[in-house]
Amino acid sequence: MAEKIDVLISKEEVDARIAELGRIISEEYAGKQVHLICVLKGGVFFMCELAKYITVPVTMDFMSVSSYGDGTSSSGVVKIVKDLDEPLEGKDVLVVEDIIDSGRTLSYLMEILAKRHPNSMRLCTLLDKPDRRVRDVKVDHVGFEIPDEFVVGYGLDYAQKYRNLPYIGIVRL
Ligand code: IMP
Ligand code: MG
Repeated sequence: MAEKIDVLISKEEVDARIAELGRIISEEYAGKQVHLICVLKGGVFFMCELAKYITVPVTMDFMSVSSYGDGTSSSGVVKIVKDLDEPLEGKDVLVVEDIIDSGRTLSYLMEILAKRHPNSMRLCTLLDKPDRRVRDVKVDHVGFEIPDEFVVGYGLDYAQKYRNLPYIGIVRL
């Protein structure tokens, strides 16, 4: 069954905002090297695009987590499905996420990663749904604040589909 997708944020707007975030992050990490951590799979398009606009040296690592939940909401207990390849000790870490919804996944993940003694750790998300927050998460960079709608594209999926859309759309069932 095909869902209808309404454009919420166009490709041009997403591209421009990511370029802008890249410039801001480059200034923030001037003279340093930034270690980007992608939370798979949703964060992958955003992280790769963002990395192209960062002018300080960049290294990257990937992790995959699954949240014990009912499929539509996360429980906050996160299982690491694929861990990082490299230690974080002494690194200036920037976690790159697709979206922060309840905040459960990220608040738990940031806690786990902080225990690995990075030199600094910040969080950058493409999208933020602040209305849905149940757990406090300190977010350093937000691409766009969006209303409480289920969105797809730019890495975000609906039943694993639509991650490849170059814009952010709202799913109409
Ligand atoms: P949280 O723990 O509730 O913040 O869950 C965040 C995760 O839920 C994200 O990393 C996404 O994988 C997923 N998610 C939340 N909202 C959406 C949405 O609107 N579209 C697609 N995935 C979403
Ligand atoms: Mg995610």
